[in-house]
Amino acid sequence: MTDQYNSRPDVAPFTGSTPARDFILTATDIKKSFGGVHALKGASMTMRRGEITALIGDNGAGKSTMVRTLSGIHKPDSGEITLDGKVVTFDNPKAAQAQGIETVQQNLALVEDLTVWQNFFLGREKTHGFGPFRTLDRKLMRTTAADLLKDLAVNVPPVTSKVRRLSGGQRQAVAIARAAGWGSKIVIMDEPTAALGVQETARVEGVITSLRDAGVAVLLISHNFDQVMRLSDHVWVMRAGMAVAERRTAETDGDELVALITGAKAA
Ligand SMILES: Nc1ncnc2c1ncn2[C@@H]1O[C@H](COP(=O)(O)OP(=O)(O)OP(=O)(O)O)[C@@H](O)[C@H]1O
Ligand SMILES: [Mg+2]
Repeated sequence: MTDQYNSRPDVAPFTGSTPARDFILTATDIKKSFGGVHALKGASMTMRRGEITALIGDNGAGKSTMVRTLSGIHKPDSGEITLDGKVVTFDNPKAAQAQGIETVQQNLALVEDLTVWQNFFLGREKTHGFGPFRTLDRKLMRTTAADLLKDLAVNVPPVTSKVRRLSGGQRQAVAIARAAGWGSKIVIMDEPTAALGVQETARVEGVITSLRDAGVAVLLISHNFDQVMRLSDHVWVMRAGMAVAERRTAETDGDELVALITGAKAA
């Protein structure tokens, strides 16, 4: 049903049986180059409401570049993004957040010299009062950050500790709790469990499914096929800067996904 994208990558992904209104996000013909490196060569993908969409592909396929484009870090050279049916452009990550897109980046974007709670509220501090009497509501920010974090981290770091003192798993928990805690429409997670142990991975997977159950659309980038098969509803496969295939998760398996990733199987 979706094989036309491979042979006709210029076709916008509105064909097939899914009505456009069912897509919370579409990315159409996105191109992005870094000097001579064509990281995205006209990639198109969609996310449906209330679903976990997995984005898979080999190293260098363009997954993180797509994520950074959707989250306002990169401006695409060309192409179109729609959110809730409207064309959007993001000048920076704050603009994407303001429209309801939260992202956990692959290389964690935490500020080492700030505390856990300061990282949570960076750029959107809660204040008391008004005008010149406005003060930061530190207590509220600390308790909110601690509440969000306690469901996620196995060894919960104190929210007053500096991020530079945290383990990799604890940092990841902070980044995920921060993204999940903002009541967004879309949460994008680029390799959220790559650095985690067994227990923390299970917790993060629990957060991913509970976000979906709460109506949030999740974009999950993962190299872990078991995780993709267990958690996702839909899978997009990227290869060499293009999204070359999509499948309903229930209608595919790990072997087919590997073949699509490597190009052993045509989309
Ligand atoms: N800021 C950048 N400057 C130059 N080249 C870049 C930049 N970001 C990505 N690239 C290149 O673009 C291509 C796609 O990279 P990208 O990080 O999107 O891949 P990926 O699918 O996320 O891979 P991985 O699975 O290893 O995370 C690679 O060739 C990469 O080297
Ligand atoms: Mg990546």
